[in-house]
Parts: sequence; C-alpha cells; structure tokens
Amino acid sequence: MKKLVVLTGAGMSAESGISTFRDSSGLWEKYQIDDVATPAGWRRNPLMVLDFYNQRRKQLLDSKPNAGHMALAQLENNFDVKIITQNVDNLHEQAGSSHVLHLHGELMKVRSTGTGEEIFNLTPEKFETHLGDKCPKGFQLRPHIVWFGEAVPEFENAIKICEQADIFVVIGTSMQVYPAASLINYTKPNVPIYLIDPNDIQNLPSNINIIKKGASEGMSELKKLLIR
Ligand code: OAD
Repeated sequence: MKKLVVLTGAGMSAESGISTFRDSSGLWEKYQIDDVATPAGWRRNPLMVLDFYNQRRKQLLDSKPNAGHMALAQLENNFDVKIITQNVDNLHEQAGSSHVLHLHGELMKVRSTGTGEEIFNLTPEKFETHLGDKCPKGFQLRPHIVWFGEAVPEFENAIKICEQADIFVVIGTSMQVYPAASLINYTKPNVPIYLIDPNDIQNLPSNINIIKKGASEGMSELKKLLIR
C-alpha cells in the first residue's frame, strides 16, 4: 500500500464547530497568545490558562467528527495513512483514524508540572482542571499542550513520517506556525502534494495541487483524484 501522509490544522475541525486560530473571529482575535499559550502566561495567571483549556474541552465535547475526518479514516482501506495533526482535539481518533501523531499535544490530557513526564487522561465526566488539582506527587496539573516557546517533542518522529510519504496532503492550516509548517519540506522529491483550504495560503512550494475548498468537500474531491 502507498503511504499517504496528512498534515492537518485547525481548519480540519472547523466544520465540526471548533474555532480556528487565525481566521476572522478565530481564537487569537479573542485571546492573547501570550496570555493562554505560553509558559509566561501560565506563570502569570494559571487560573486564566486552566479556564481557557476547560472551555476548549467543553467545545470539543459538544463536537463530533465531520465528513472530512470520516473520509480520511476511510482512506485506510486504500492507503497506509499516517496523520500528523497540529490539532489538540481527538476528532481524527473519533472518526476511526488509526495513526495520529499530535504535534501540539492533546486537550483531553493533562500533565504534571513536576517532571512533565507524567501524563493523565481526562474523561468526558471529569474534563475540567482547577488550581489545586495535583498529580500523586503533589505537583499542579497543567494542560498537555505544546505552548509557544516550548520544544515540540514529537517533531523528530513527524519528520520521519514525512520522509516516508508517497503522497502528502495538507488540510486546513495557515502554515504560519513552525516547526510544523516546515514538515512539507521533508518529503521526497517528486512526491505529489495536495493542499485543501478554502483560503489562499502564502509561501507554498510551487509544485502543489491546490483544492480550494473546505475540509469535507475537499476530501471528497481528493478521494476521487486518488482512487480511480
Ligand atoms: P490557523 O487558524 O492558523 O489556520 C486555519 C486554516 O484553516 C486557515 O488556513 C483557514 O483558511 C483554514 N480553514 C478555515 N475553514 C476551513 C474549512 N472549513 N476547511 C478547511 N480549512 C479551513 O490554524 P493552524 O494552522 O492549525 O498552536 O494553527 C497552527 C497552530 O497555531 C495551532 O496548532 C495552535 C495555534 O496557535 C498552539 O496552540 C500551540
């Protein structure tokens, strides 16, 4: 089976009702990145940060995978599909995708502020984290999210996956956040690259097949191109 590698961003989940970051009315219009997505913001006001991610989890629990997520999961019948997502939701998994690498962490997990290595699963019944919620060793729990200014521990693994791709697909990312946006550069020469996004994306390599549509419609078009 050919290896199909997919890089997804917030636009993948937009049709599920989850806000993107940089579109008009996106999350970064309402919140300052520095307040809720940096180690400095966490040190200044952990309550605000915990509240922000509690709200994101609430939104996720009210959402379900869209037709784009489902189509990607179904492609496993025809391809060896590996998804690298910048999204912290679990909608790819809910849709049935088997190989999902989360570059920027996962909303439904928290980790200890002690060593940072102990990770705990949240549940739909207990999805909020509060000041004073601690790991068994007594350290405050924080969101399991890669904030701006922090290392991206899964990046090396993501590079290896991209290097293996026979076909590379990008869906719903503004390609403004690094190192994620650089992954496209690790594909082998002459690998076909498709990009699904309803808006224009800047600074792309020239050899890309652009499908200027939303995730669901775009995936339906891509399936027709890939499976003849
Ligand atoms: P952005 O909000 O920067 O970009 C979202 C992209 O989705 C844009 O290119 C939109 O045009 C596109 N889009 C909107 N609606 C769509 C739809 N229905 N179907 C397909 N695409 C659609 O989000 P990301 O590129 O994912 O990191 O942002 C990257 C990172 O920046 C995030 O992981 C997050 C953020 O700050 C952290 O929080 C650490």
